[in-house]
Amino acid sequence: MNVTSKARLKIKNKTIELPVVEGSEEQFGLDISRLKADGGCTTYDNGFANTSSCMSSITYVDGEKGICRHRGYDIVDLAENCMFVEVAYLLVHGQLPTAQELNRFSRYLNQHSMIHENMHHFFSGYPADSHPMGILASMVTSLSSFYPLLSHKDPNFDITAARLISKVRTIAAFSYKKSQGEPVVYPRHDLSYCANFLNMMFSSPVACYDINPDIVTLLNKLLILHVDHGQNCSATAVRLVASARANLYASISAGICALWGPLHGGANQAVIEMLNKIKNDGRNIHKYIQKAKDKKDDFRLMGFGHAVYKNYDPRARVCKRLCDEFLPKLGIVDPLLDIALELERIALEDEFFISRKLYPNVDFYTGILYRAIGIPTNMLTVMFALGRLPGWIAQWNEGVESSTKIYRPRQIYIGPKKRAFIPIDKRKKERAHRNIH
Ligand code: SDX
Repeated sequence: MNVTSKARLKIKNKTIELPVVEGSEEQFGLDISRLKADGGCTTYDNGFANTSSCMSSITYVDGEKGICRHRGYDIVDLAENCMFVEVAYLLVHGQLPTAQELNRFSRYLNQHSMIHENMHHFFSGYPADSHPMGILASMVTSLSSFYPLLSHKDPNFDITAARLISKVRTIAAFSYKKSQGEPVVYPRHDLSYCANFLNMMFSSPVACYDINPDIVTLLNKLLILHVDHGQNCSATAVRLVASARANLYASISAGICALWGPLHGGANQAVIEMLNKIKNDGRNIHKYIQKAKDKKDDFRLMGFGHAVYKNYDPRARVCKRLCDEFLPKLGIVDPLLDIALELERIALEDEFFISRKLYPNVDFYTGILYRAIGIPTNMLTVMFALGRLPGWIAQWNEGVESSTKIYRPRQIYIGPKKRAFIPIDKRKKERAHRNIH
């Protein structure tokens, strides 16, 4: 840890010194590891917005400048020039793969693309309208019953990572097929990662799926744009569960559950639902802009705002460009895109959004692109999870390899002070005496 100076803190009648640590991108952090022991107090930071939970070399995000880099490579360069599997390798191993390394990784992905046949029975237990994120979370936890439990340094980590990245793709496609009442389509060794997924999703025993290279290219870019994003809510969930030395599958399942939330990865589904609502409400965009600004209204402009970006999310900028490039190529005219573009135009000219630095985030345009591929709305967050999986695996491994302490934040207690026990026959009277019902 690179300590560059010390900060002096005066707490009541005590002055203590705290080390200042510096990251590789001129970031500074106050190391408060000794604050409770030396200063007798903790910090309070709602949502950890000002707290770094770890040292990480995976992703650098500069929210003010709208920068996102994975292992030092700019997200725009990666989305422009790579296949998803290449970037997955980069996240997990820290380097872009050589041709030989990529071949080996792709071979592992193929070798481990099937799920145990017994797992098929799990799908039939779910109601047809089950949300696929709930299925994905429980199926990933169930992988721990079929494959080695990993809660420590793993000599075959590259196979483990490939196994999970490949099986989660299969589980996602199988859950879609089951929801459609169709037989599952098995993965094929002659197809690339993305082409395989599309084939598992859209081919059937009675109709082959014509794999469109443009759609394969678009899917690669979309998954790359989701691959990691530092210590976001779901990555923190993965690292938190991993800090208890729980196994990899349990940790990733926790990440899936956190991502499901509409304030996080679930926002991509919420954006499409919001755009449809506006479309069905006479495209009354100004009404919804006003609702988003009304503190008494719990409506939020989904896909807008970000806990870190106070500038345009670079991933959203790429997605907006992909809409311009791929929808015409695929012969698609989506009325929801026009509504999204108009929403963005009006919001970015509105003082409420400008003053709060609210811009489109990664979820604002991705749903429109996934619709163009044929992905249904309730599968959008599953697609986010597919892309994010290499990042979660890298975060899990970095946490385990750094032997991170168990995550155990403190609290500021604001509950009742010590009070005497009250037998049950006296409680009603006591409550009345305190005027509590
Ligand atoms: C992801 O962290 C990551 O990196 C996440 C992610 C990743 O790759 O892992 O980037 C993926 O989760 C993107 C975010 C997807 N969520 C949404 O699109 C949901 C809609 N967005 C908001 O709920 C909100 O912007 C959050 C949850 C994303 C951020 O919440 P914050 O940090 O509490 O927002 P803020 O502090 O910047 O808000 C400042 C003000 C507040 O109003 P005031 O109290 O100052 O009057 O802006 C308001 C907020 O109420 N505000 C919004 C708004 N987002 C913030 N008002 C209307 N619509 C919105 N979308």
